[in-house]
Amino acid sequence: MKAVILAAGDGERLAPITQTLPKALLPIGSESILSRQIRQLASLGVTDVTVVIGYEGHAIREHLAASNPPCNVHFVENNHYKTTSTAYSAWLAADHVRGDSFFLLDGDVVAVDAVFESFIALTGNTLLYEAKSISSPEEMKVAQDPADGHVYLSKKIATDRSLGEFVGVAVISAEANEAFFAALASHKDGYYEEAFNEIAVGHPFELQAVTENSWIEIDFVTDYLQAVRLFTETREEVAAPQVSEQVLLCPGPVMVSKKVKSALLHADIGHRETEFIEILTRCRAKLNNVYGANHEYTNVIITGSGTAANEALLSSYGPGKKLLILSNGEFGNRLLDLARCHNLNHTALEFGWTHPMDLAKIEQTIATGDYDALMMVHHETSTGMLNPINEIGALLKPYHVDFLVDAVSSIGAEALSVEKANITFCTASANKALASLPGLAFVCGKRSAFQALRDVPAHTRYLDLYRHYEFEDLHYQTPNTPAVSLFYALETALDELLEDTLEKRMQHYGHLSSLIRNRLKKLGMSFPVEEQQMSRVLTTVFYPADVDVEGFHDWVKQHNYVIYRGKGPLLGRAFQIANIGHVREEHVRAFLDLMERGFQLKQSADAVVEAAATVE
Ligand SMILES: Cc1ncc(COP(=O)(O)O)c(C=O)c1O
Repeated sequence: MKAVILAAGDGERLAPITQTLPKALLPIGSESILSRQIRQLASLGVTDVTVVIGYEGHAIREHLAASNPPCNVHFVENNHYKTTSTAYSAWLAADHVRGDSFFLLDGDVVAVDAVFESFIALTGNTLLYEAKSISSPEEMKVAQDPADGHVYLSKKIATDRSLGEFVGVAVISAEANEAFFAALASHKDGYYEEAFNEIAVGHPFELQAVTENSWIEIDFVTDYLQAVRLFTETREEVAAPQVSEQVLLCPGPVMVSKKVKSALLHADIGHRETEFIEILTRCRAKLNNVYGANHEYTNVIITGSGTAANEALLSSYGPGKKLLILSNGEFGNRLLDLARCHNLNHTALEFGWTHPMDLAKIEQTIATGDYDALMMVHHETSTGMLNPINEIGALLKPYHVDFLVDAVSSIGAEALSVEKANITFCTASANKALASLPGLAFVCGKRSAFQALRDVPAHTRYLDLYRHYEFEDLHYQTPNTPAVSLFYALETALDELLEDTLEKRMQHYGHLSSLIRNRLKKLGMSFPVEEQQMSRVLTTVFYPADVDVEGFHDWVKQHNYVIYRGKGPLLGRAFQIANIGHVREEHVRAFLDLMERGFQLKQSADAVVEAAATVE
């Protein structure tokens, strides 16, 4: 078997790291991308590899000459690499593979050995792809004509018709060889996918799927850094983490996807440079989407945890205002604490932990005309109760009272539209249902309300909301040094959420919480909050009688699950199981089995003690 590797391009998008080095020679662990591909091909029995070189071609020749490749390597020069593309490069290799079946690889694809091993069984025309939903116009998508089953490639395929992303690896059969090179000859000015598409009718392609994270095409610096992380870890021993992997079933910080973690390996950038301006702007636009905001709204991203957003809002908006603050749990109380701390003119309307908010009472209080604004928590995380922001927002409308909402643990999990709920300002953070890393917090608000803050003497400097608005909305910058890396993680998490869609994410969370609640009920356990008032990401449940509460928590922890103790009046009486963030069904099922086993162990231990007492 033979192979052709296309390695002529200058990797423009990878500048500056490809300024002196062709992309194919970037190191992945102890070998270059190209040496790695050749080693993997040779291990499948490939005897001859033709490498099409162009940019810094001499460096590739020297590199391979010095590295003693495990099979025959031939070179073909594309002297027009600056003005031509993949079709021309592939066409140049025709003489080396004429009449044979061969693998055709982009020289910037890094894959695990298993992807190459899957080639062994392939002989007919085949395209490798990863099944996934992609909306980016940058990616080469694969689709199949529903009428005749023919497979074709294009960047322009609509998301709903695309089966996934082309991996940049194909097998051309001996029988299709001549037609393929003839098609390349007629598309020499373009890309090789035009030749694939042209011959697909007479010489159909099969599709071979590869799995997520088993390959990467190196287009950008971030791709390269991710490849280094993913593929050097598996080939070379990396020190085991100090802390064993845990399943976080607590309401934040939450588990995040591998992709979100990998996003931290971005190129170093300056926060006053275009690169940061771009990522800040993209994150803010995507956040507005998640907030269900129309053009009347904008948002700011603050480096800090959820409390930073709440403190920025209260200390910047609150001075000179009369505030009504609702509370039915710990996080409502923390809003009151912030109001006290900043010496704001406020009244507390407390309903008691686990008690629903009384709408009639709220309206009665607002109708006094004494208040400029009402602030409350959407999802009261200390009890798992979802408070009715839509109803309260509607109730406030005729009174022209501003509506401030803490959506720290509801955004991304519950139906939330700042516009529909008539919200003036809404706070949130990155590390709950948005499934990103802790350290970024947000305030979304009406543009007019942000502008009105200019005349309010904020009781804070660092968290002055108008300053953040002025910098971010008017100058596309942050006032101080932001946690740059967290923006990369946040954007990845927002992309994952928006691609998955909010509806599907809500369904997923709803499914997991039903699994949890049904099992708990089956075990005869009960909840301090009515089931229809609970959020879909958190279940607070009373302990069965006689359970050693701390012992149970620690036993679960020893098995690498993290759950939360009850807070306030629920301390020692209840615990919390969250299904928020990157929690999968298998995590939840395994935890529920473990929990049930724990309770059974306890019962059998009790039975032994009881039996022993009877004998005595
Ligand atoms: C509803 C709510 N508000 C505010 C906060 C405070 O957020 P942080 O701990 O990120 O400052 C939390 C934290 O769990 C929360 O659940």
